[in-house]
Amino acid sequence: MEAENSREGQVHPSFAGVMRHREVIRQKLSGIRHKVGIYSAKGGVGKTTVAVNLAYALKAEGFRVGLLDADVDCPNLSLFLGISDKMDASRLPLRPIEKDGIKVASTAMLVDETKNPIIWRGPLIVKMLYDFFCSTEWGELDYLVIDLPPGTSDAPLTIMQVSGLDGFVIVTTPQKIASINSIRSGIMAKRLGMHIFGVVENMSVGETSQNAKDVAGELGTEVIGSLPFDRKLPELSDSGIAPCKELSDVAGIFRSIAGKLPR
Ligand SMILES: Nc1ncnc2c1ncn2[C@@H]1O[C@H](COP(=O)(O)OP(=O)(O)OP(=O)(O)O)[C@@H](O)[C@H]1O
Ligand SMILES: [Mg+2]
Repeated sequence: MEAENSREGQVHPSFAGVMRHREVIRQKLSGIRHKVGIYSAKGGVGKTTVAVNLAYALKAEGFRVGLLDADVDCPNLSLFLGISDKMDASRLPLRPIEKDGIKVASTAMLVDETKNPIIWRGPLIVKMLYDFFCSTEWGELDYLVIDLPPGTSDAPLTIMQVSGLDGFVIVTTPQKIASINSIRSGIMAKRLGMHIFGVVENMSVGETSQNAKDVAGELGTEVIGSLPFDRKLPELSDSGIAPCKELSDVAGIFRSIAGKLPR
């Protein structure tokens, strides 16, 4: 692509602009040792739940952890964490807000959008992601956990292209429909040269399902954790409490998943 846009040393200004932004983002994220995306193309499988609990598990081990809500149009992370504070957008760079020692950033901390939903076409979403990545100052971190939106188009693609992720944890549920979409997600990530750390089966009932095993098999990885279906999880998340703070079994499951990430 670079070659197509650059002939005999001449670079189209718009291409140069994109590459400049990517370089700014690379520098902004350069103090972070590991960037882990939590992803599935299927909505509602528990990406945000996994991202939150994994971040707490890493923090409990003494790591410096950040949590980025990369869902620009439906940002939920602040609700899951009970954060109502806004970032000071009048001064750049944007500073993440700390919750339980974890640095958290979300576009929900810039505008009160619940009653004014963001109804944007792809190019604006992509621009917002670039701006958000360019302006947020994370400082030094051991891990940045990135909660991705569903789908396989503009937003996840942009995140994969600009954030220099180390790899992904793919989330699925026991249902066939989830596994099909989780396979899509993993194949997309792999096509873009990303590593898959493993598959987490959420809302599991009993043994790890064949569907979750199939996702791992198709992606050439393993199921690295199973989180059972538990009504207490949404109750806690709706109250802004990370489930692993109250439920020791959940904390244990995510301690084990965290142990399978690179150190
Ligand atoms: N193991 C579980 N047992 C019961 N409920 C769960 C479990 N995991 C997640 N939930 C609930 O399911 C709902 C969807 O979870 P979550 O928001 O984490 O999914 P998501 O994949 O991030 O969704 P989206 O695609 O909209 O971003 C939430 O209400 C959450 O509390
Ligand atoms: Mg989510």
